[in-house]
Amino acid sequence: MSESVSIRIDNCDIKVPKGINLIEAAKQAGIEIPHYCYHPDLSIVGNCRMCQVEIKGSPKLAIACNTFVTEGMEVFTHLTSEKVRETQESNLEFILKNHPLDCTVCDQSGHCKLQDYYFEYSRRGSRLLETKVKKKKAVRIGTHIMLDAERCILCTRCVRFLDEITGTGELGVVSRGDRSEIDLFPGKTVDNPLSATIIDLCPVGALTYADWRFNTRIWFTKSTESLCVGCSRNCNVIAHERDGEIVTVKARYNRKVNKEWLCDEGRFGFNRFKPQIPCSTDSNTHEALAAFASLVRHGEHLNIILSSFLTLEDILVFKSLSEAFPNVRLYGLVVRRQTSDLERILVMPDYSPNRVSFEKVGIPEWNGDASTNLCVVGLTSFENKFIQFDTIKFLFSGYGELRNMAEVFIPCKYVYEKNGHFINCDGYLQKFNALFASKNKAESELIIQVFPELDKIDPLAYLKENLSVPENLDVR
Ligand code: SF4
Ligand code: SF4
Ligand code: FES
Repeated sequence: MSESVSIRIDNCDIKVPKGINLIEAAKQAGIEIPHYCYHPDLSIVGNCRMCQVEIKGSPKLAIACNTFVTEGMEVFTHLTSEKVRETQESNLEFILKNHPLDCTVCDQSGHCKLQDYYFEYSRRGSRLLETKVKKKKAVRIGTHIMLDAERCILCTRCVRFLDEITGTGELGVVSRGDRSEIDLFPGKTVDNPLSATIIDLCPVGALTYADWRFNTRIWFTKSTESLCVGCSRNCNVIAHERDGEIVTVKARYNRKVNKEWLCDEGRFGFNRFKPQIPCSTDSNTHEALAAFASLVRHGEHLNIILSSFLTLEDILVFKSLSEAFPNVRLYGLVVRRQTSDLERILVMPDYSPNRVSFEKVGIPEWNGDASTNLCVVGLTSFENKFIQFDTIKFLFSGYGELRNMAEVFIPCKYVYEKNGHFINCDGYLQKFNALFASKNKAESELIIQVFPELDKIDPLAYLKENLSVPENLDVR
C-alpha cells in the first residue's frame, strides 16, 4: 500500500497518496481544477497559470500542477475562493487577448478547452483596443497535421510529447513575448508514427487533423467509447461516426494501456476494417447453419480457424463447441508484422487484436498445417491480404466481399457491429463497444442457435473460474 496523507480541499477532508499534485488530489475529491499545460504523462512546465489555487497559510496563489500534497494541507479552488475565481477570469482574458475569432470555422469548436473554460470560468468581454497580433494560419506541419499558430496558447504539450515520448523533437517555441509561436525545426516535419497524438493533446484548435478537416461538426456525430483493433495493444479510443462512416478517432485516456497516445496507422486506419460489401443475412443462412451443425454432430473432423478480430465471447463459445465435440479442432489466426523502434513505444508487432485471448483460453496458433476440412470464423478482408486459404468448407464472416471464398458462406456481424471483450497484450480485459448497429448475429449467437446446449458464457466469470486473472485486470 502506498503511503497516504490527509488534506482538506474546499472543506472536504480526504486521504490521498503521498507525492501526487493538487490537480490529481482534487480529482480524487471529484473537483476539476482547470488546466491546459499539465498532462499526467508529460513533464510539468507550469506555463498556462490556469490551475491556480489558494493554500491556507501561503501569501500567494499556487499552481496546482506543480504543488504536491503535504500532511494537513488546506486548499481552496475556484469553488471556495473568490481570489482564485478572479485570477482564472483574468488569466483567460489574457490567454484570449490575441486569439482570433475563429470558432465558426474551427474544427475544435464544440470540444475546445478554450470555449469550455471561457464559459465556465470567465465570460468576460474583451477590452482590447489594439489590433490583434497575426500569426501563421493553416500550415501543414506533417502528413496528418495542420497548425494554426494564432489559435495556439503555448501550453507546449505538443513540444513536450515530441521531446519526451517519441524523442523526435520536431517542434519548438520560437520568438519572444506576444510574437512567440510554435514552429518546426528547419528541415523537419512532424511525421513520426505517433504524430497525430499531438492533435489530441492540443487543448485548443491550433493543431487539427489534415485528414478530417472541415468534414463535420463534432455535435453532428455519434461518439462511442471503444477500442482500436489495429493491434493487440487495444488502445482506448472515442470513435465519432456520421452517416455510417468513422469521421474522427481520438485517444481515450487509460493510464495503463495507451495513456493518451494512438499510432497514426491505427487512428487513420479505422475504415480499413469495414467491409467493402456489407453482409445481410440471406435465406440460405438457416440451411448453411444446419449443414454446419450436422457435420459437427456426425463426428466429421473439422479444423476451425478463428480470426483474432472475434470477441472473447465468440472465442469462448467455439472453445466450448470443441470441448463438446472432440472432432472439432480449434486454431487461432495470428498475423505478425515488423515494427520500428519508434512504433514499439505503443504498437505491437501483430495485426491480431485478440491474440492474447487465444493464449489465455488455450487455443493454439494456426501454423498452416491443418489445411483440409477448414471452417474459418470471423475472417476479415484485411487478414485475407496476409493469409491465403486453398479451400474453405464453411466461412463465417461479416465481410460480403469474401462470399465466394468458401463452399458455404454464413453472414454475420463484423467486428465494429459487436459488443464484447478483448484481452490486450498486457493482459487487460477491456470492453469493445459496437460502433454500428446491425440486424445480423454474431458468430457465437449463430452457434448457440444450432447448439443450444452451449450456454452463452460470461467472459468475466469464465476468466475468474478458469484462468489466473492477472492482477492488473482492468475492465473499463
Ligand atoms: S499547438 Fe496546441 S499543444 Fe502545441 S503549444 Fe499550442 S496550444 Fe499547446
Ligand atoms: S498501437 Fe495498436 S491498438 Fe493502438 S492505435 Fe496503434 S494499431 Fe491501434
Ligand atoms: S496546468 Fe498548471 S500552470 Fe498550466
